Amino acid sequence: MTAEQVTVREGSTELLVPAVHSVRGPGSRGPSVFYNRQMAFSRDVSVMLLRALGPSSAADLMSAAGSRAVRLANEVDGVHVTANDISPEAYEQIRRNIELNRVDNCEASNMDLACLLAERRFGYVDLDPFGSPVPFLHAAIKGVERNGVLALTATDTAPLAGARRDKCERRYMARPLRGPICHEAGLRILMGTVARDLARFDRGMEPLLCFHSDHYFRVHVRVTKGAQRADATLRGLGWMRYERDGLRRSVSPSPEGHPHGPMWLGPLHDRAVLDSMEADEGLAEPRRCAKALALWREELDTPLCYDVSELSSHLKVSPPRMERLLESLRLRGEASRSHVSPTAFRCALPLEDVLDAYREAAGTDNI
Ligand SMILES: C[S@@+](CC[C@H](N)C(=O)[O-])C[C@H]1O[C@@H](n2cnc3c(N)ncnc32)[C@H](O)[C@@H]1O
Repeated sequence: MTAEQVTVREGSTELLVPAVHSVRGPGSRGPSVFYNRQMAFSRDVSVMLLRALGPSSAADLMSAAGSRAVRLANEVDGVHVTANDISPEAYEQIRRNIELNRVDNCEASNMDLACLLAERRFGYVDLDPFGSPVPFLHAAIKGVERNGVLALTATDTAPLAGARRDKCERRYMARPLRGPICHEAGLRILMGTVARDLARFDRGMEPLLCFHSDHYFRVHVRVTKGAQRADATLRGLGWMRYERDGLRRSVSPSPEGHPHGPMWLGPLHDRAVLDSMEADEGLAEPRRCAKALALWREELDTPLCYDVSELSSHLKVSPPRMERLLESLRLRGEASRSHVSPTAFRCALPLEDVLDAYREAAGTDNI
C-alpha cells in the first residue's frame, strides 16, 4: 500500500513525497520512498551547476522520489535526465513526479545502477546513496562520458571525520583525522578515494565544486581520460600531519611523519565554474546558495586550515571577530575563510605568523 503523500515545493518544482519524511540529518532507509527536506540545498547546487555546465544528458542513479532528477529536468534548460532507482516503489514515485511537473525530458528507470551503466553513458552522473558511495563508485565511473561530470554524496561522516577510524581505513583505505579540522580531512579523503578509483581506469579528475555541509560531503569532479591525466591526478594526493597540542600542521607527498591520508591536497573548486554559477530567486534556498557561492569563490586552495577554538584555547584569549583576524593574517600573507566551518580559516603561513596575527587580532578586539 502507498504511504500517505504530500506535495512540497522545491525551487520551481512540485514534488509528491511520503507525508512522513526526513527533515534533518542523513535520514534512514524506511518502508516508504526516501525524501529529505534538508537536502534541498544540495539539489539547488546541482541545479546551479548544471545550468552553468550545460550537459546534454544526466543520470540521477539513486533517485528515490526523483527529487533531484525531476528538479534538474524542470529547472535546467536543454538537459535530458534519466531518473533511476532500484526500488519499484521509488520508480512509481518518480513516474508520478514526472507527470506532476509535465517534464518530457525526464525518463524513469527501474534498474540496478550497475546494469544501467553497463549499457549507457551520460554527461553528468549523480550518486546519492545511504552512507558511503564507495560500493557504487566503479560502476558510476564507467557511466561518465569523456570529460563528463561525476557527482556524489557521502553521508558516512563518522568514518571520514575520524570517529570510526577502523571503518575509514577499511572503506576508504585512508587514515582519518580527529579534532577541529576533521571535516576538511574527511572531504579530502573522500576526494582522494575518487581520484584513486578513477586512476584504476586511466582517468583523472578536475574538481569543480567539493564541499562539506550539514551531515554530508558532496563532490563534483570533471572526469578526464588518459594515463597521463590519471598520473597527474595521483600526484595531487598526499598526507597530513596534525599536532593537536602544538597546533602545527603540514602536508607531504609522502606518508613519512604524516600519518593522515592519503587525501587530495589540490583545489576543491574550479573558480571559473563557480563564477558562472548563479543563485537566482527561483531556487529553494536562494539566500543560502548566494552565501555559499561567495564563500566558495573566496576560499584559498590550501588544505592547511585552523579553527579559532583551538587557537583561542591554546593562547588563552577570547576569539577575535573573523573579519579582524583575516585582516591581521593578510598583513602577513594570504588567508581566507573556510566553507567547512564558520569558525575556520585557511592559510599556509608559518605557525608563528598565524599565532602573531591571532594575538594581534584578539588583542585589538579584546581591548
Ligand atoms: C539516499 S536515497 C537517494 C535520495 C535521492 N537522491 C534524493 O535526492 O532524495 C538512496 C536510494 O538509492 C536506491 N538504491 C540503492 N541501491 C541501488 C542500486 N544498486 N541501484 C539503484 N538504486 C539503488 C535506494 O532504493 C534509495 O532510494
